[in-house]
Amino acid sequence: MNNSAYMDLINSALEARKSAYVPYSHYAVGAALLTAEGKIYTGGNIENASYGATNCAERTAIFKAVSEGERNFTAIAVAGGMEGREPADYAWPCGICRQVMQEFAGGDFRILVVRGQQDYKECRLEELLPCGFGGESIR
Ligand code: THU
Repeated sequence: MNNSAYMDLINSALEARKSAYVPYSHYAVGAALLTAEGKIYTGGNIENASYGATNCAERTAIFKAVSEGERNFTAIAVAGGMEGREPADYAWPCGICRQVMQEFAGGDFRILVVRGQQDYKECRLEELLPCGFGGESIR
């Protein structure tokens, strides 16, 4: 992926934080998912009074894309921090989101964990979810 595609994805994740619904934690996460064709789907975390029904930003973006028929993804950028402030740290994807990425990520899939426009860590899913459980195990 070229640098300007990374920059667009990172900016989209930072922007998507504004769509987060976070009345309980006030921790706003934004995610931006890039398809193989170059389209970006964004999502914010959506909290719930029953806490456990909360949906993370990454899954919001992934489910939006998959429900629109997308299946091939190149990268996801994630940024999180207290609502109304710049991220103070890197927001690493939770375990459930890593497992959902496993379902749809190909070998070249990259995860960008973003703290600022020029400040991010890039990794592969295998680093975040070693020996992940995938569909090939049950076919
Ligand atoms: N959160 C995400 O959106 N993504 C993650 O990978 C980790 C956590 C959200 C869930 C909840 O709304 C808030 O961050 C605090 O846990």
